[in-house]
Amino acid sequence: MEQRQLENLLREMTLEEKIGQMVQISGHLLTEGGILTGPADTVEITGEQSALIGSILNKVGAKSLHRIQEEYIAGHPYHIPLLMMFDVINGMETIFPIPLAQGCTFSPELVEAAARVAAKEAAVAGIHVTFSPMLDTVRDPRWGRVMESTGEDPWLNAELGKAMVRGYQGGENEVLSGAGNISGCIKHFAAYGAPEGGRDYDNVEISERTFREDYLRAYQAAVEEGCAMVMTSFNSWNRIPSSANRWLMRKVLREEMGFDGVVISDYAAVAEMVSHGIAEDSREAAKLAIMAGVDIDMMSTAYLNHLADLVRDGEVEERLIDEAVMRILKLKNDLGLFENPFKDCSEEKERELFACVEHRELARKAAAASFVLLKNEGKLLPLDKQSRKTLAFIGPYAENTELYGSWSFPVKPERTVTIRQGVGQKTVGNSVKVVWAKGCPVLNEGMVTRMKYREDYTEIDLNRLMDDAVNAAKTADTVVMCLGEHRDQTGEGGSRAVIRIPENQLELLKRVRQVNDNIVTVIFSGRPLEMEEITERSKAVLMVWMPGTEGGNAIADVLFGDTAPEGKLSMTLPRSAGQIPIYYSQFRTGRPNRTGTKIGFCNGYLDESTKPLYPFGFGLSYTAFDYSPITLSRKEMKKEDTITATVTVSNIGDCAGTETVQLYLRDVKGSVIRPMKMLRGVQKVTLQPGEGREVSFAITEEMLEFYDADMNYVSEPGLFRVFIGTDSGADNYAEFTLMQHK
Ligand code: NOJ
Repeated sequence: MEQRQLENLLREMTLEEKIGQMVQISGHLLTEGGILTGPADTVEITGEQSALIGSILNKVGAKSLHRIQEEYIAGHPYHIPLLMMFDVINGMETIFPIPLAQGCTFSPELVEAAARVAAKEAAVAGIHVTFSPMLDTVRDPRWGRVMESTGEDPWLNAELGKAMVRGYQGGENEVLSGAGNISGCIKHFAAYGAPEGGRDYDNVEISERTFREDYLRAYQAAVEEGCAMVMTSFNSWNRIPSSANRWLMRKVLREEMGFDGVVISDYAAVAEMVSHGIAEDSREAAKLAIMAGVDIDMMSTAYLNHLADLVRDGEVEERLIDEAVMRILKLKNDLGLFENPFKDCSEEKERELFACVEHRELARKAAAASFVLLKNEGKLLPLDKQSRKTLAFIGPYAENTELYGSWSFPVKPERTVTIRQGVGQKTVGNSVKVVWAKGCPVLNEGMVTRMKYREDYTEIDLNRLMDDAVNAAKTADTVVMCLGEHRDQTGEGGSRAVIRIPENQLELLKRVRQVNDNIVTVIFSGRPLEMEEITERSKAVLMVWMPGTEGGNAIADVLFGDTAPEGKLSMTLPRSAGQIPIYYSQFRTGRPNRTGTKIGFCNGYLDESTKPLYPFGFGLSYTAFDYSPITLSRKEMKKEDTITATVTVSNIGDCAGTETVQLYLRDVKGSVIRPMKMLRGVQKVTLQPGEGREVSFAITEEMLEFYDADMNYVSEPGLFRVFIGTDSGADNYAEFTLMQHK
């Protein structure tokens, strides 16, 4: 449709018809079935009202969405198609590793490819918009939703966020109506990643400086990449819930950041302003939200029941409604829905694409690239499948299909490759002998998860399970412990005060170690866990997060060395929860602690180190890499100059490996305190044993900018330090001076 036609359409619509476009309800309210991602009872709607709504969420499948669209269009006065939205977070039917794990790949290419597959599968299932990427900076692993972010670093999140937007929306020069393209949705605007105490939905108390510098950056990058939608966050910032924050939406998002797409609220977030205590009732909540610039009210009845009256009573200008509706119609038009309301929706294509060989291959590759090898004493890994030794795989994840993270539905466990299947395929016909034992369930008896899921202990003889495991360990040369938290201990509403693996599993590890200390531990998790009790008792430790459909194959690939581990931590691993928040880019203090342990009057704890267990960016390979000193193309930089920083990275081990070379900058002195280090570049190099390669990074003035003491976004002349190394602890550096600006 031409813009003019959209304008004519808008002009013809009644107030109620327009407001209908601004309402989104869950698909289960239209027809039977659907997936619930929030409370079911936040909306009551009549058949007449639902005939006018503009979009639905959480209903999938070509057959059902085709029918819903057909019937809906037939009944709508202007035959305006519905927008179908869904949380396609780390894959639709082929499940990729959770976003936090994708962050550990440090690879925009892989992340874009994974999002592309997710988009293609979602598009044929009838979906037009995914509620992704989540670009919240996350620095508190107690918060369950860290699993849905790519990590603690704004720069990395920005790079990976842009990659996701390209993957979903088809990339540069593509239009949303193109085949396999869906709209992305940046969330959660803003700063949802910093709830107090790591408690989901809690308020955010950070300064405007931190907010702008560390939280807005990734959202901004995705806006610039052309993402068509933004979701408001549940939390308040500066004591105002985001969906009511006019300054945030109209000034920051639209004016400063230049976003001109659709703003949708989070699930019932508009009505929740009443609980927040800033609206008397849902009528006032509706007024605050429309004034702030929320175009679509997701799963509350505030707009549905009150917007029209607010306009008629002169409290809200109809112009605001028109602007919002035009943005929604434009999105529908950009997706090509007026010409083809079914877009890519096709049962035949579902059969062809869902979890097809090509998609599975990518999922396997992405999963393997996301695993982080924390420790490998005595080169216990990789395991040798040609040996005559016995391996015991022990633990509740040894033969478990729940490897897909808490934002993957509809759940299809039969598609997941378990460790047992992956290892079975790898070892069949080889001389190595493999034995299996579960040892214990994932959860302790009575342990609660976000979905109120509990292990059923009535049929379980825990002692027998543990004894069998210990006996298996006795007969083995090497034990592979497959442990971790449950998928539903993470995700929305999945905050934890204790971030350890369940007690039973730790007990199992302790008992196994009494009879065999040749232990490789594979850890499943949706967050950084307290791991010291595990790393102390294991010779090798591999973090596999929630690896998805091809998890078992990818784990077998890495354990047996067919693929070398290359993942790097996208979030710091704390020693203990008491250190939280702990992140690599922390700020310098007046009383620095140089040793990590507290002696005298310096920054830190009496009873804990200030150092993490493993820093951001850390991850081993089966080989080792050496870094030469850094050379800089010049030592003085004028505003328009580019400095090239170069190192030679060499593989000094005895097998091939991929290194993620990381560039960090430090502003040695600023008008405000500057972070210890800031990640500003990443390059991956694959090197054969004995091979060396030059790796160069371009440093520009723009990379040095920050909010100065007067909140101007500038760079300040002075000394800068350039670090290049294998993780954020890198101490290999060179220095240059940024000259006075003319
Ligand atoms: C609430 C979550 O915060 C949001 O991320 C999600 O997209 C919506 N529910 C819809 O499921």
